[in-house]
Amino acid sequence: MPAAGRGLRLGPGAPKALRALSGTPMLVHAVRAMARSRAVSLVVVVAPPDGADEVRRLLDEHNAAGETATDVVVVPGGETRQDSVRLGLAALPDGVDSVLVHDAARPLVPVETVEAVAAAVREGAPAVVPALPVPDTVKEVQVRTGGEPEPVTGTPERSRLRAVQTPQGFELKVLAAAHAQVAREGDGATDDAGMVERLGVEVVVVPGHDEAFKVTRPLDLVLAEAVLARRRA
Ligand code: CTP
Ligand code: MG
Repeated sequence: MPAAGRGLRLGPGAPKALRALSGTPMLVHAVRAMARSRAVSLVVVVAPPDGADEVRRLLDEHNAAGETATDVVVVPGGETRQDSVRLGLAALPDGVDSVLVHDAARPLVPVETVEAVAAAVREGAPAVVPALPVPDTVKEVQVRTGGEPEPVTGTPERSRLRAVQTPQGFELKVLAAAHAQVAREGDGATDDAGMVERLGVEVVVVPGHDEAFKVTRPLDLVLAEAVLARRRA
């Protein structure tokens, strides 16, 4: 579980994973969401590089894995999300053969989504991503900085687009090979599955969920609080 980001787009404050959602750190919600699945036996939390001790303390304090059989370990993260995922993979014990990579910034993912991804991996898919159809029409543009109008260069057919979420599930050796390749060649994949695609390995999509949205901007905090309030009602 990469949780080492600073959350710049959320605005000033504590690292994003440590910010509260209805009084509980986002990371605790995210660990609970994963631990709820019987497919998950261990959660490796990748903490901000200088915050591993604080994160360990918070997770204990909130009894994050609750009464489940899931173990939780904490390791320090890196400069980029890719680095953090690689450091998390390095902390897995021997004998693990499949892995889910889940953003701490998606604290409200329903257990059904976790199980759907895990089931597809268990049934033999080397790489699985949960995703949803895209509601907006998407344009490709020539990027201009400084707020100038940007020329449109194309409009991909919306019905073929999917917005990708996490947890993304992998055969561990496939994901490890993808990370090793990126470490050698360096590139800017924005998700783990994108790195696996570059290896030429097939990635499949299973249905994602509205509540697996990523908390990125301030408005997402409003949505997350509303979802939690609805769950309590
Ligand atoms: N992440 C990480 N290590 C990094 C950067 C990101 O573990 N060096 C994690 C974040 O903690 C988050 C997930 O990757 O759980 C998705 O990243 P994102 O939503 O972009 O979070 P941040 O990078 O923290 O946010 P921002 O890009 O707005 O700064
Ligand atoms: Mg980021």
